[in-house]
Amino acid sequence: MRVIAQRVALFLSPSCAIGKLKLPRVLNSDDTVVTHETKELKSFIQRVCYIFRHAFIMSDSKCPVPPPSIVRGMTILDRSAFKAYMNVPGLPVPVKSINAFNKKFKASLCKITKLKPIVLLAESDELHQTHRLFLLDPNLYKTQNDFSSLQQDMLKEIGVDIRSLRLYPLELGYDNWNVSEIMEAVLPEGTSNISGFSTIGHIAHFNLKPEVLKYKHLIGQVVMDKNTVVKTVVNKLSIIDNTFRNFQMELLAGEENYITRVKENGLTFEFDFSKVYWNPRLGTEHMRIIDSLGCEDVLYDVFAGVGPFSVPAAKKGVTVLANDLNSHSYKSLQNNVKLNKVKGSIECYNLDGREFIKTVVKDHLCKTWKKCVDNETKTNIVLTMNLPALAVEFLDSFVGLLADVEDHDFIVSEWVTMPKVNCYGFSKSDDPKKDMTDRVVAVLGSGILHSLNIRRVRNVAPNKDMLCATFTLNRDVLLDQQHQVLHEGPPAKQLKMEKAAV
Ligand SMILES: C[S@@+](CC[C@H](N)C(=O)[O-])C[C@H]1O[C@@H](n2cnc3c(N)ncnc32)[C@H](O)[C@@H]1O
Repeated sequence: MRVIAQRVALFLSPSCAIGKLKLPRVLNSDDTVVTHETKELKSFIQRVCYIFRHAFIMSDSKCPVPPPSIVRGMTILDRSAFKAYMNVPGLPVPVKSINAFNKKFKASLCKITKLKPIVLLAESDELHQTHRLFLLDPNLYKTQNDFSSLQQDMLKEIGVDIRSLRLYPLELGYDNWNVSEIMEAVLPEGTSNISGFSTIGHIAHFNLKPEVLKYKHLIGQVVMDKNTVVKTVVNKLSIIDNTFRNFQMELLAGEENYITRVKENGLTFEFDFSKVYWNPRLGTEHMRIIDSLGCEDVLYDVFAGVGPFSVPAAKKGVTVLANDLNSHSYKSLQNNVKLNKVKGSIECYNLDGREFIKTVVKDHLCKTWKKCVDNETKTNIVLTMNLPALAVEFLDSFVGLLADVEDHDFIVSEWVTMPKVNCYGFSKSDDPKKDMTDRVVAVLGSGILHSLNIRRVRNVAPNKDMLCATFTLNRDVLLDQQHQVLHEGPPAKQLKMEKAAV
């Protein structure tokens, strides 16, 4: 089971360092949207990938012999110290029967990282010219008696003489152990093994526990050695506590190059990981929102980052207005629009979220609705507000948003559809859904309750959830003249950020 899981993880993993296959795509190469069934399947595969990647990324074939005990406590990597010797059972197989043997005994071969289980026999051996030696799993075969009678018949048929089973001496080195095995041998006994890492393009990203920090450079080097895609290894230095949600990070190994490219939902995103926010665990959430949008819809992405909601939505044909206060995110967002050859309508802004809502969204909303009334058509309008530590506080921007719009009678037209908001938040409460409901209602009033749905997105830390509150704004909120000024929040730069890990 474990072996199957490992194989599945390696082949399907979206950002697995070793994975060679491309991420399952939501959009076809000709940019048309794939069928519902295919999308569902792909979404399912992505979820499976995520689970397997995080469970098994550190795994590989398990070596029957551990690295030598002298490596315990090593802080500066000395690859030459990793040496061990063992004997494995070897069975000479006639050259002409290699394929047949391989087919039948593939699962029984000796599986050690970077070891080919077929070797030449010594020149002095009388079978040197005619046979090759297959190395077998020492846990399965020790003597001839370990072959079942069925296997014995099969081997006889292809000309393999089990009486020639012998022991083959192996010298193992640094290459023959995987990251987990090396860490288990190096770190002090009793230390729980280092947790898995995320890969963001060529960057491997750790969140190391204090007890292993002494070994951080060795860990970085080993991860680079064992994953050819990884060129930079970093450790998260602190919890995310700045406005732009990017990590403070320390280089552990490799080049100090944080400009990276990743694939998510079939599109490419390029950014400087040290300056912007990117979380490889949000791919499914992004896809969920994108899938819910129709190509005639309008999306206002208030905290757009480098564009994981906005770029795929625009690619799909949605009219997008995307915003981020971080100038590095804004530039990457613009670049990602070009990189993905988005031909649809997308406008990018570099404003505080509150200002974006009160100016850009307000103007666009009015123009869109006037058009709807004139043309007697309806347009779905969706907002995404993914800044979980603070987004709820920005909801006050909607209170009385349209109160000063002249002739705002159009707002009551049957052709006007109220905007649907997806507002993200964290909660540490015992009842996170109630907590989120209370916070949203405190800002927008109980009038939104009938449309309010709170969904748990993921668990970000023990006792801390990320949630998504989805609700429809109503006319009372948008026209509320009384509260327009009272609910005004502080400018973004003065906001004291709640210390929160993402
Ligand atoms: C958690 S990230 C989400 C990014 C992206 N939407 C995603 O799903 O990956 C929040 C984003 O909000 C931006 N941000 C923080 N404060 C902001 C503000 N006051 N106004 C606009 N954007 C802000 C940050 O720069 C960051 O890119």
